[in-house]
Amino acid sequence: MRIDIITVLPELLESPLNYSIVKRAREKGLVEINIINLRDFTADKYKTVDDYAFGGGAGMVMMIEPVYKAIEKLKSERHYDEIIYTSPDGERFTQKMANILSLKNNIIILAGHYKGVDQRIREHLITREVSIGDYVLSGGEIPAAAITDSIVRLIPGAISDEQSALSDSFQDDLLAPPVYTRPADFNGWKVPDILLSGHAAEIDKWRHEQSLERTRKLRPDLSDDE
Ligand code: ADE
Repeated sequence: MRIDIITVLPELLESPLNYSIVKRAREKGLVEINIINLRDFTADKYKTVDDYAFGGGAGMVMMIEPVYKAIEKLKSERHYDEIIYTSPDGERFTQKMANILSLKNNIIILAGHYKGVDQRIREHLITREVSIGDYVLSGGEIPAAAITDSIVRLIPGAISDEQSALSDSFQDDLLAPPVYTRPADFNGWKVPDILLSGHAAEIDKWRHEQSLERTRKLRPDLSDDE
């Protein structure tokens, strides 16, 4: 799989995508992640990639030309299954969407910035607009990193214990059960007896019950449609 991220702040994306599971997936060749500096696609000597909005108003707009050139260059080299634009007014990102995207071969993510990109890019080139939640961040870089991370951990082989990705919260519309490690008793704070019992089937049952209970209590909306 290949993910190309177009951004005005490449530095912001380097670190989050260079640790832990994503780093290992890159090293194993399971995913190729390229961070593309939008400023490399402007002929302007000041490397300008934003301009005032037609009609006035506060805030700058990502210019159409550099974005168009960056996307067209990538598209001339290979077929892309999705061209995603990160924006607070996009469709809400979910585990389901991460699952679907993890099955694609090539994805572009355009990290929105300033007041957003010229609408014509959204209309003509973008295939999916994605928000990571109902709050506004300073730019689409952190959303792009979050989306990439959640996709990459689902690629077979990215996590050594495959069960581990399958038992993540949300994978079956349930929150994950609580986890504990040694010591079994810390200053009188005890691990539930069942987890020390050695009865695998009973432990599975307990974990499932915990998942159901936590989901009912904390995220009843997850099972609304069932
Ligand atoms: N850019 C700014 N805020 C965002 C959000 N919540 N999701 C996606 N992109 C964004």
